Amino acid sequence: MTRTLYLISCAAPPSRHAATGIRAAQAAGWDVCLILSPRAYRWAQEDGGEKELDELRELTGHPVRYDYKLPSERDVLPKPDALLVAPATLNTLTKWADGHADTLALGLVTEGLGLPLPIVALPYLNNAQAQHPALPRAVATLRAAGVRVLLEDGTPEGSGGFRPHPPQHGNVTAYPWGYAIATLPSAP
Ligand SMILES: Cc1cc2nc3c(=O)[nH]c(=O)nc-3n(C[C@H](O)[C@H](O)[C@H](O)COP(=O)(O)O)c2cc1C
Repeated sequence: MTRTLYLISCAAPPSRHAATGIRAAQAAGWDVCLILSPRAYRWAQEDGGEKELDELRELTGHPVRYDYKLPSERDVLPKPDALLVAPATLNTLTKWADGHADTLALGLVTEGLGLPLPIVALPYLNNAQAQHPALPRAVATLRAAGVRVLLEDGTPEGSGGFRPHPPQHGNVTAYPWGYAIATLPSAP
């Protein structure tokens, strides 16, 4: 039976390449639903035009969600079997660890900890952002709660994960979507 992966993408440059991650996850057998943070949605909508969102809807076969539904509305996506937060921003990682749930993306990942769902987070941030003292706290909190945070931070858990780049020197084409997908705990 096909299993469903929610790809939750935040507003960092790899979100504009979400199709790469979607195709890689589909090749690994997942039915992929894309959820964007509100700002990542705005980037796709205003920099990519409706065409980009249409292509993502067509690629996944599902609506692209970015906001909570109304209580009276039905769920439009199948229930997830796993969550992949990629790219995970400094903003979302720190809010997530502190239990903020004021966006659909944060609502899914905060609740996901307790359901519990397998969750992998692949950050994308520069090495100035990575020095913020809230980041190691957030990563430790999330790891203790069972999230696989793929951040190369000198800990054994982070070994092989994303390594923060100098400001203005990010490389979205090297973003390791495939590594994160291979790390998802249970293959479909
Ligand atoms: C061009 C641009 C690039 C950005 N790149 C990053 C990034 O690589 N990592 C990061 O954590 N934040 C980055 N930010 C900041 C986030 O977009 C910002 O913190 C935003 O509020 C994140 O919201 P979200 O976590 O809900 O997606 C960038 C912002 C801009 C305008």
